[in-house]
Amino acid sequence: MNDKIVVQVENLTKRFGTFTAVNNVSLSVRQGEIFGFLGANGAGKTTVIRMLCGLLLPSSGMGKVAGYDILTQPERIKRAIGYMSQKFSLYPDMTGRENLYFYGAAYGLGRKLIGERVMALSERLSLREFLDRPSKGLPIGWRQRLALAVSTLHHPKILFLDEPTGGVDPAFRRTFWSTLYDLAEEGATIFVTTHYMDEAEYCRRISIMHQGQIIELGTPHELVKKHRAANLEDMFVDLIRKRESDNA
Ligand SMILES: Nc1ncnc2c1ncn2[C@@H]1O[C@H](COP(=O)(O)OP(=O)(O)OP(=O)(O)O)[C@@H](O)[C@H]1O
Ligand SMILES: [Mg+2]
Repeated sequence: MNDKIVVQVENLTKRFGTFTAVNNVSLSVRQGEIFGFLGANGAGKTTVIRMLCGLLLPSSGMGKVAGYDILTQPERIKRAIGYMSQKFSLYPDMTGRENLYFYGAAYGLGRKLIGERVMALSERLSLREFLDRPSKGLPIGWRQRLALAVSTLHHPKILFLDEPTGGVDPAFRRTFWSTLYDLAEEGATIFVTTHYMDEAEYCRRISIMHQGQIIELGTPHELVKKHRAANLEDMFVDLIRKRESDNA
């Protein structure tokens, strides 16, 4: 990790009609950092990620991702980053290999280069025996690995992963995270949402969203200490419960 800031947003807000899904969110992430994005269902995490990825325009606020402006250069951002959406985004009737070639071409990579990268990724993620089966029939752990391969095919500097391990078993989650660590070691910045507190512990910093706002941000250790909690899970649950009861 170095000091270069590669994601920076200020007062990011998104309204859908009269409902404010994201309310004045400000944060910055450094190159090579693994940044965890936590919050209860509906807190606004996916909406923030979609704005950071250039897929959704904010109602107000500003920001830069990979050096590009989220308001005026969303197309540049889309090419510079990797994005794994919360919903399975691969073509179900195509095999893993066909998906990789399809997305590689969409990123403007030539067939030869795609072939080399597919080989390398298949080695790294142990995908070989699953590459030539239709992706819809694969167990979820393999599908998610395949989706990770697709999102890293063009060697993006920043990866946005929206609940990449939802529904994935613990052993798979462990190997998935060891790949994320390797990618970060190689200089990639990883912005990841999760509902699993063991995964939150693996992040250098985490932010916690509640009803569209960031209510905590810091290293896992700092937050546990600040709230005098026994562990991250207790801290998270107590914090959200307290907010809910304050609202009631
Ligand atoms: N296009 C939309 N139109 C209207 N409301 C929306 C839209 N997209 C999201 N919302 C609402 O905004 C809020 C935040 O949703 P979002 O998907 O960002 O939450 P999340 O933190 O990712 O939740 P989860 O953990 O369940 O994935 C929710 O109340 C959701 O219903
Ligand atoms: Mg979400």
